[in-house]
Amino acid sequence: MPIVDMKDMLQHAYDHGYAVGAFDLVSLDFLEGILAAAERARAPVILSLAESHFDYFDFDVIMPAVEAAAKRASVPVAIHLDHGASCDSAVHGIRLGCNGVMVDASHEDFGENVRITRSLVDMAHACGVPVEGELGYVPGVEGEDAERHPGELACTTPAEARAYVERTGVDFLAVSIGTVHGRMKGKPRLDYQRLKQINEALSVPLVIHGGTGLSDDQFRRLIGNGVAKINYYTAVAEVAGSAIRSRLRADRGSGYTGLLQDVREAVSSEVEHRMRQWGSAGRAAEVLSRCRSWLPVEHVIVYNVEGMDEMQVEMMMAEGRRVLGAIPGVREVISGRAVQEKARYRYSWLVRFCHPAVIDSYRVHPAHVAFADRLFRPVAGKRITIDFSVVETTFSVRHRHHSGAAN
Ligand code: 13P
Repeated sequence: MPIVDMKDMLQHAYDHGYAVGAFDLVSLDFLEGILAAAERARAPVILSLAESHFDYFDFDVIMPAVEAAAKRASVPVAIHLDHGASCDSAVHGIRLGCNGVMVDASHEDFGENVRITRSLVDMAHACGVPVEGELGYVPGVEGEDAERHPGELACTTPAEARAYVERTGVDFLAVSIGTVHGRMKGKPRLDYQRLKQINEALSVPLVIHGGTGLSDDQFRRLIGNGVAKINYYTAVAEVAGSAIRSRLRADRGSGYTGLLQDVREAVSSEVEHRMRQWGSAGRAAEVLSRCRSWLPVEHVIVYNVEGMDEMQVEMMMAEGRRVLGAIPGVREVISGRAVQEKARYRYSWLVRFCHPAVIDSYRVHPAHVAFADRLFRPVAGKRITIDFSVVETTFSVRHRHHSGAAN
């Protein structure tokens, strides 16, 4: 079960004065290590996939694994698209299973950032998916991930932050108050006064990008001033790299799996340490009981056709799969033909929505209206349409895994 609504998750953190870690994952070792840490610490966690890292893995291929691992977890999990490049990226991420999205328009001027983010919010909220906006600019200075964030630091101002949140409708705001992406030599100087003013002006969960390299005290003060989500990557990549180098020193003849064998544990212990430091450890049960589960809806239609031969039915189905499958919030479209020749209904659609909000937005979406009115309804007079929410069995046996997930 435990994929939960990310808005509920972060609101809980904001209300209770702790922060959830959003750890960018770049491999299955990262995925398993992050979740093992969350299980050990009994912490809610955000599995984050940054579009800037898509050179390292195939997003379409890794997402089924991310979703399967999240569903199998016994702690609350959300799946987030980090630094998406466009609204299309967010639509795609939602289709693959993300239940929180960010499209980074922070390098644009204020008006353009508002315009891009507003249209993202319209799309994502129609899918039930919360949105993180970023205002001000968090650059990369040094270290593994730095070059992916070129440019100068630009701080968020409280007045702009208020206008931005009002105009865009974002659910969480990433702010720039002195942190940087990647590892910085020396200690970043953070502007807590600015953060405090932003928090007082907004009262929405705040997000910090560039969590690597901050001290205990810095994290404590960030969280004390409204930060409920901390993005963290470079330090995890560094401990993973060190684990590989140590293996290589210990045994220069190691093959691929030998070299990687300590990566999962290295990731896990770094992540667990942060969960304990940021106060999310021990919160899993409380968060699970307070947050809505993230459950899909199955939109099912059974129908017969009049005035069409089999070939024409297949063409209509192919067109439906193409146009309906592109509507935001639709995860999958399956067209079927009855196995039994004498079945009362010969054909079916199974359209999987990511969230109940899509029932309404799908119905009125122009692509659906055009397909239904022009191609489908005129020939499918006899039909039954029902939306099913997915029923979860609470007594299912969960596989035990090296993560130590207790059921
Ligand atoms: P660090 O790599 O500095 O931890 O930042 C991660 C981040 O902000 C991803 O969005």
